[in-house]
Amino acid sequence: MNREPTDGPTDETNLHAGTEGSRGTSSQGGPSHVARGATDTPGHRLSAALTVGSRVVVRYRLAEGAEAGATDFLGELVARDDDFLVVDTKTERVKLIRADVIAAKDVPPPASRPGHAHERISADDLEKLMAKGWQALDRGGLGDWVLRASEGFTGRANSALVVGDPSLPLPQAIDFVEKWYDGRGRPTVFQVHGERGFDVGTDPVAAALLERGYIVGGGRDDWQRVLIMTGLSAAVPPLTEESVPVTADAELKLDWLQAYAEQRPIVPGATEAVLTGSEGQLFLSVTDPQSHRIIALARMAIHPGWAGIFGLWVHPDHRREGLASTLVSAVAMVARENNMPAIYLQVSADNTDGVAFWQELGFGVHHEYTYLSRPTA
Ligand SMILES: CC(C)(COP(=O)(O)OP(=O)(O)OC[C@H]1O[C@@H](n2cnc3c(N)ncnc32)[C@H](O)[C@@H]1OP(=O)(O)O)[C@@H](O)C(=O)NCCC(=O)NCCS
Repeated sequence: MNREPTDGPTDETNLHAGTEGSRGTSSQGGPSHVARGATDTPGHRLSAALTVGSRVVVRYRLAEGAEAGATDFLGELVARDDDFLVVDTKTERVKLIRADVIAAKDVPPPASRPGHAHERISADDLEKLMAKGWQALDRGGLGDWVLRASEGFTGRANSALVVGDPSLPLPQAIDFVEKWYDGRGRPTVFQVHGERGFDVGTDPVAAALLERGYIVGGGRDDWQRVLIMTGLSAAVPPLTEESVPVTADAELKLDWLQAYAEQRPIVPGATEAVLTGSEGQLFLSVTDPQSHRIIALARMAIHPGWAGIFGLWVHPDHRREGLASTLVSAVAMVARENNMPAIYLQVSADNTDGVAFWQELGFGVHHEYTYLSRPTA
């Protein structure tokens, strides 16, 4: 089965009673301050869109005379148009008439192991979710694998995400991916994940790539091992009277982008597209009252049940002043108010400051991944 990842958000506001549509606050104009105890800050009541490929629950009116008035269908939304929703449930594919849909919403991936909300998700499901939080410009599918290219802006948005079944025997699947990247003039990079500390050579895909001359990390230290850390939004300390003001904006503004460019090289056009490409995101920042420059920032990605944190950065002159903690408290506040109990982030294992920061906040390692590419990449 070749599942092309879907395009951007779609308008399903009629099916989201009590929400404001997929882009959260963007229609509301300017930025807002995330205030302590605020209940109506733009950025709240965020909702992910009901997109093809999402896990959804649909309340459906049954035919007249049926014993129950309505029933729920839970599964993957595989197609939609003006007249029908098609859902793959555990047992069957159902084609639902839109006029008989009472309500429908995205739901988080299923629990596949014990633990709290941030621990129960499988590594594959979390990888797929995180890919939606950092959508590549150019996407393709090979079975469950997701092929991503974004003019070289970040490894995540320029690598083949190895999850599930590629629908072809492994050697052909790798050939296909290499061709896909060749056709775009980009180096082929694979992202392979495993449990914490996993031995890359024991993963069948990684082993086949090593055999072909790929190397772990593709020659980059920060690509050797990337940790996926997760935590509970309820466990993050709340904002206090002493917290500096945080601005949260549904739109990407130039000053935010300029500050972001201080921490990593950007690719004009591709960077903006990736940063704004998810079904919902907020751009958070702290501004220095003297210079009026942004000195700390983060991007929050919005998913059903989950928030993602990307690009957390504090200007070197302002580190250890609690700014990053304040930004995460703001993200957690928005998450709690929007029914997102779990938070994820990705941090390179060689970023000891970053890992120490997240550990201090109580986040734990969910799993890890590595990139594999040929030495020349
Ligand atoms: C990591 C980073 C965001 C932390 O920002 P910050 O504003 O300095 O963090 P805070 O002041 O809120 O730190 C809170 C706590 O985290 C821990 N911590 C933060 N930086 C740390 C470091 N360099 N070494 C060890 N512990 C650290 C400490 O326990 C700190 O509390 P303390 O200062 O009272 O000891 C910042 O160093 C940074 O921008 N680094 C570059 C980008 C980056 O690595 N981002 C994270 C990747 S996801």
